[in-house]
Amino acid sequence: MNPFDLITGDEKKDLETILFLYGSALKKMNTKIEILEEEFRKIHQYDPIEHVTSRIKTEKSIARKLRREGRDVSIANALRFLNDIAGVRIVCSFTSDIYKIADMLSEQDDVKVLLIKDYIANPKANGYKSYHMIVSIPVFIARGPVDVRVEIQIRTIAMDFWASLEHKIYYKFEGAAHEYIKDELSECAKMIHALDERMLALNEAIRQLEGKDEE
Ligand code: GTP
Ligand code: MG
Repeated sequence: MNPFDLITGDEKKDLETILFLYGSALKKMNTKIEILEEEFRKIHQYDPIEHVTSRIKTEKSIARKLRREGRDVSIANALRFLNDIAGVRIVCSFTSDIYKIADMLSEQDDVKVLLIKDYIANPKANGYKSYHMIVSIPVFIARGPVDVRVEIQIRTIAMDFWASLEHKIYYKFEGAAHEYIKDELSECAKMIHALDERMLALNEAIRQLEGKDEE
């Protein structure tokens, strides 16, 4: 089933329905991530995940995004056009962990990958790096399974640090562009990414010394 099949036209009831569906999808996704993390910790004695956050987009923020895109504010449009009503952010230790986590999630039978934006291989012009996947997972309700979309962002601590501050400083700033701020943010992004590379190299060197590189 598609979430559209549950829409009645009664906006208040429909909002409740979609918040329930997306909330349930988020719970499922968080459980998947927790299980992977626990397996890594217990069985491989290595935890690639630093922390995970998740959120459901608020009604206000759904409306704001639809308006920004020039669309009518309705539940139907939110379902049709927004991929990030449910969002999970996984913050990893090293860049190499990002692809591992992404693969382990996409390989699960009930996870359907709908879209990938690899801003690590192809950073945004401002320096933003992160790995984004839009997936759908089935939520089983009384009437049967409903495919619900979840946005997954996977990044390193360093990428997260930059993105959080950039978001505060600039991303939502809808005024005129300041070249100085843009240049500084882009310089900071370069420093952050150099740091990620050095930390990864250091980690690999240590693993080799320990003879654990075949893991
Ligand atoms: P949004 O409309 O902003 O959600 O972008 P999109 O639908 O084109 O998708 P995209 O994958 O590019 O971005 C999804 C999300 O990634 C955003 O909502 C932000 O959370 C994050 N993001 C994308 N670009 C940037 C950026 O330049 N800076 C920061 N701080 N976050 C970003
Ligand atoms: Mg978004």
